[in-house]
Amino acid sequence: MQSNSEEIIALPLNFKTHANFNLENYKDLQASFQQDYLGTWAKLAQEELFWHKDFSQTLDDSDKPFYKWFLDGETNISYNCLDIHLNDRGEKAALIFEDEAGESEILSYKVLHARVCEFTVYLKNLGVKKGDRICIYMSLCPEAIIAMHACTRIGAIHSVVFAGFAAHAMKDRIDELSAKILITQNGFYRRGKIVDLLEVATEAISKNSPVEDLLIFKRVKEPLSLQSSLKIQIHDLDRELKDLANLNLSTHEVLEQTPEWLSGNDTSFILYTSGSTGKPKGIEHNTAGYLLWAKLTSKWVFDLKDEDVYWCTADIGWITGHSYVAYGPLANGATVFIYEGAPNFPEADRYWALIEKYKINIFYTAPTAIRSFQAWGLEHIEKHDLSSLRLLGSVGEPIGTETWKWFYENIGKSKCPIVDTWWQTETGGIMLSTLPGVNYMIPGTAGPALPGISAEINPEGLLHLSKPWPSMLKGVYKNPDRYIKGYWTKIPDSYLPGDLADISVEGYIKIGGRNDDVINVSGHRLGTAEIETALAKHQTINESAVIAIPHAIKGEGIVAFVVLKQGLMNVTDSQQSHGSTEERERILKEHVANEIGAHAKPERIIICEALPKTRSGKVMRRLLKDIAQDRLPEGDLSTLEDKDVVAKLLAVSKLKQ
Ligand code: WTA
Repeated sequence: MQSNSEEIIALPLNFKTHANFNLENYKDLQASFQQDYLGTWAKLAQEELFWHKDFSQTLDDSDKPFYKWFLDGETNISYNCLDIHLNDRGEKAALIFEDEAGESEILSYKVLHARVCEFTVYLKNLGVKKGDRICIYMSLCPEAIIAMHACTRIGAIHSVVFAGFAAHAMKDRIDELSAKILITQNGFYRRGKIVDLLEVATEAISKNSPVEDLLIFKRVKEPLSLQSSLKIQIHDLDRELKDLANLNLSTHEVLEQTPEWLSGNDTSFILYTSGSTGKPKGIEHNTAGYLLWAKLTSKWVFDLKDEDVYWCTADIGWITGHSYVAYGPLANGATVFIYEGAPNFPEADRYWALIEKYKINIFYTAPTAIRSFQAWGLEHIEKHDLSSLRLLGSVGEPIGTETWKWFYENIGKSKCPIVDTWWQTETGGIMLSTLPGVNYMIPGTAGPALPGISAEINPEGLLHLSKPWPSMLKGVYKNPDRYIKGYWTKIPDSYLPGDLADISVEGYIKIGGRNDDVINVSGHRLGTAEIETALAKHQTINESAVIAIPHAIKGEGIVAFVVLKQGLMNVTDSQQSHGSTEERERILKEHVANEIGAHAKPERIIICEALPKTRSGKVMRRLLKDIAQDRLPEGDLSTLEDKDVVAKLLAVSKLKQ
């Protein structure tokens, strides 16, 4: 791609002058990385993190690709986010929280630290130790962040499961992790209705579960309703944390809970994400390198200043909610705003009302949300004073030129730089983005690799990272082969994210989408194989093929072509079977939502007689994509086993219009 001068948008001058990271810093750091790559990382790690014991080796690469960063150094993530601010920022707001009903809570660094320490004592009393896996199934609320920090404080490995996941998906994760503890809450409000997390959580652990203790925060007023049949310890945290406070532990005993000092390479958390097989993979992150990059990128990319109120709309169930809500900004001593609820409740102006009320300065969200704001109309935005905003960010999927411009003009009023940040669960932090004190912007193009990150594009257009970096994943939990084959085999000694990209002469990189069977629905990664596996569990299904088609709001929408078991339905007889076909489609959509979660629910189910397969038995997905978009199939169809299948598919698909 050759960048075209009309597309370039210059940075506002005030950003260049006041940015945390300016052109001079940028040039110096680039030169330093070029001269001494590992020495520069070592220097940054020494400057940015508190080390209980210094590391002597920056990177151990003796067992590639299992790179180990800061292996013999000792530190702690939560200590670096909380304790280090107590002297200078103890009274400063660390978290500002508002729930959907409008109740708010402000937690200063001192208060957040005390509550994390209290929960740490509680978990230790339960017997939690370094290395234990703890599953967290919660909404975006202060208690969830407290639970995450208490885990990293002890060195217990947390695995947050997004609160939209269904019981089956959670059970799979809990089982693979052999998690003995599940932390959840009795519910939360979404669009005015209670989402009963406890019901899903208890279902997930109802049969043959490794979970021994279920910990429940009381987040909605309704009394806890519990299935008494569960043969595990059930803890009402509302009561038990009060009992703990009554134990007369001195404030000193609680607050001086020295954190566990962990090796730089100890696992801090595992977060599951989709790949191209039917089974999600547990991405394992280290301690020191992860935090170093979460801290540096928060400071550089978001230009976080002490006086800023920063809002990232991501849920803690995703990596963005880890790196840029729970950890990176707090490591910088920032004030983080969190909101638990829907963006259009009670009205479609909720986000803009929040920005006005809390004078938010930095707003980081996903293109799918921006496209919804666009669709809801400008009148909701115009009602509010958004003049506090000074920087906007986008993450999770390609934003596209038009949406970028809309965001820039209507939310940023053409004065706020936009950082379009490309990264992944696996990379731990942002890899590609413009820096708001350094680089001009090109709408729809993420930007150059950040200092220290070596992004390249091979002749097939595959983006790859040719040097290890501190916040890289450690591996795939219990699956070293999947780690090696999935990321390190195709391009030797290079990490392969699976995205296609284009690069300009200035090193600006534009992401083109995925190169594998991973689809991106509203910024959520889903494997087509994962949805097919879920469909296969339904008694009526013989086989299925899932594809994605463009969707105006969600980016991509899921379409599933399914073949039912013999004798279940004569799909060609539209007159007779139409009603029942619709019912079947509805049932199958619900089935996927029940297996994975509502975010995986197909837009369309197309019941067909047979899938278009090549003579070697592979489903011809490009043909299905054409059909799902009512296009006549293009390209070479000569390898199809049964040519008649095309006409039949077209006929069935048309029935749905
Ligand atoms: C996509 C989210 C274009 C990409 C942080 C990547 C993007 C996947 C961008 C990772 C962006 C993320 N522009 N595409 N700015 N950011 N992606 O693991 O395909 O949930 O591989 O991490 O989202 O999704 P994940």
